[in-house]
Amino acid sequence: MKSFAAVAVVLALTGTAAPALAHGTVAAWFGGQITETADESRIEFAVRDGGIRVWVRDHSDRPLTASGKATLLVNGKKQDVALKADGEMLSSDAAITSADKVAAILSLTVNGKPVSARFSQEAVVTPQLSAQAAAGKVAFEQVCSKCHGTALRGSDSAPPLLHQFYQLGSGHGDDVILAAATSGAKSHMWKFGDMPKPEGLKPGQEKDVLAFIRAMQAANGFAGTGAGMPAGMPMDHSGHMSH
Ligand code: HEC
Repeated sequence: MKSFAAVAVVLALTGTAAPALAHGTVAAWFGGQITETADESRIEFAVRDGGIRVWVRDHSDRPLTASGKATLLVNGKKQDVALKADGEMLSSDAAITSADKVAAILSLTVNGKPVSARFSQEAVVTPQLSAQAAAGKVAFEQVCSKCHGTALRGSDSAPPLLHQFYQLGSGHGDDVILAAATSGAKSHMWKFGDMPKPEGLKPGQEKDVLAFIRAMQAANGFAGTGAGMPAGMPMDHSGHMSH
């Protein structure tokens, strides 16, 4: 398996990602959205249940010291939060869940200079589910959501599954999702570490979980094309040969 650094990852981002995409290959380490500022710092932003996370890195992906605050518009309600340094990240508690519709303005100081960045995400939509997908939702909530989040947008311990990397037709086909659900996965896309073999799925339930994940992806803009990554989204995904 290739190391993370060897996998050229081009992010597909909702909302504010145009600068990062125009710039080339930018890796999100923690499943967030990335934007690049004029002085080439990379700001990754993620919404968790109960708070937000921010990582500031230089153009070589080395963490930078930063401080600042965020103004959040969560489902139309405004709140200001102070970001606290927390290892290599900045974080804050907030009245927020990963499923919310969010607009965020970050006002940071990076290397003594003011830097601002904006991010947004739509509310997660739960569609009308087939009987199989509804069964999969129950199993997902019992076994997977503690890591991948009830909204499938990830957490501090696992990546979002509502993501271009995992949509239909991407390098992560049904086989990869079924394999992860039954056996776990080696870390190769993010900095969360390995996914352990999930405990508690009965044989066959992985197909229900897959149906639920596909239904959620389709309802939230990750329907996929069935024809590989979209044009302009090069992705060396040969790391998957080892699955
Ligand atoms: C203990 C936390 C944890 C649990 C529980 C968990 N996962 Fe994961 N999962 C992870 C991590 C961490 C990764 C990221 C691995 C990487 O870096 O690519 C991951 C990755 C994945 C991937 C991508 C796999 C690949 O090969 O690229 C899929 C699909 C997935 N998980 C589905 C599930 C499903 C379905 C369940 C429930 C049956 C589940 N996960 C339960 C932590 C977890």
